[in-house]
Amino acid sequence: MGPLGHVLVTGAAGFIGSQLCAALVARGWSVRGLDAFNDFYDPLAKRRNVEHLLESPAFDLLPADLATAALDEVLDDVDAVAHLAGEPGVSTSWGPAFPRYVDRNVLATQRLLEAVCSRGLRRFVFASSSSVYGAGNDVLRARGEPRPTSPYGVTKLAGEALVGSYAYSFGLPAVSLRYFSVYGPRQRPDMAAHRFIEALLDGRPPTVFGDGTQVRDYTYVGDVVDATMRALTADLPPAAVLDIASASPVDVRTLLATLRELMSADDVPVTSCEARRGDVPRTAGDISMAQEWLGWSPTVDLRTGLARQIEWHRGLREQWSAPHHLTDRPLAAATGD
Ligand SMILES: NC(=O)c1ccc[n+]([C@@H]2O[C@H](COP(=O)([O-])OP(=O)(O)OC[C@H]3O[C@@H](n4cnc5c(N)ncnc54)[C@H](O)[C@@H]3O)[C@@H](O)[C@H]2O)c1
Repeated sequence: MGPLGHVLVTGAAGFIGSQLCAALVARGWSVRGLDAFNDFYDPLAKRRNVEHLLESPAFDLLPADLATAALDEVLDDVDAVAHLAGEPGVSTSWGPAFPRYVDRNVLATQRLLEAVCSRGLRRFVFASSSSVYGAGNDVLRARGEPRPTSPYGVTKLAGEALVGSYAYSFGLPAVSLRYFSVYGPRQRPDMAAHRFIEALLDGRPPTVFGDGTQVRDYTYVGDVVDATMRALTADLPPAAVLDIASASPVDVRTLLATLRELMSADDVPVTSCEARRGDVPRTAGDISMAQEWLGWSPTVDLRTGLARQIEWHRGLREQWSAPHHLTDRPLAAATGD
């Protein structure tokens, strides 16, 4: 066991989870990473996210689904849990997809909470979302009041409420972190910066949903990972709920303009299409509680963070065009399946 203890990270192969695992290992934790490698996006991308970690003796990977995993074995020896596994995406959560959101964000969370609640964990960290605010994040309305505007937001709020219930009734030392629009290397392919950068690299027009005036509190992944690590050990009030945001919100037009400038792609035109159902005009986090309780503040500004993400996209293209491409090897080799 690492000097700091043994932490279970769920969603360990995802965008944020994989970077959290790497940072925890680097800090001296032993990490057990669990991930179902589902196909919300290409499982090969998830495999690539964790491949380098498999070489570390402080990391072990469990390719398993929280819906069915033998959780007593998964939790053996574990002191703390960072629960990042979930089904993300606002616009994809309508209609027939909803049961999947309930399964992965609500039922999986409840199953995990049942398994951990009597184990004397040091901390349970739940990855919640700015989407729980919905219309409540509009400065003109009741600021700070959760009023989700999408089924996704509803399931994340339900997850938070479950975490609070187990904290209250079992004394589980839990905290929910409401992440705001995370970006940076390994960002999910459905997210704005990822789509824009890929389009600009191809010389294709990036597609903006709506008129581009919607404001988002884009938060760099390294800062989110730092906040999550601090939440594993910080002294916190019971069932705390903290916004994790950059506190420097900008509109989508500004995001795109910054990317075009950084990529010298001013000549590529932009297309726009209808706003997506569930998207709100503005998200803006209040980081005062995270500053107070975690001693945390964001450190990476949008320009710097986007430059790092662009580098990652470029590197990926080079890697994928190299002769010994990852897809040449079977998935089982990386996951231990
Ligand atoms: N990326 C953001 O901007 C953002 C913002 C707010 C909240 N969040 C939350 O943070 C968490 C991580 O987000 P991400 O962007 O890294 O997403 P991601 O899709 O890259 O990672 C989630 C991982 O969880 C795994 N997973 C899903 N259901 C599972 C299950 N039942 N059992 C085991 N593994 C399962 C998936 O295979 C995936 O690898 C999610 O809970 C998401 O809702 C993300």
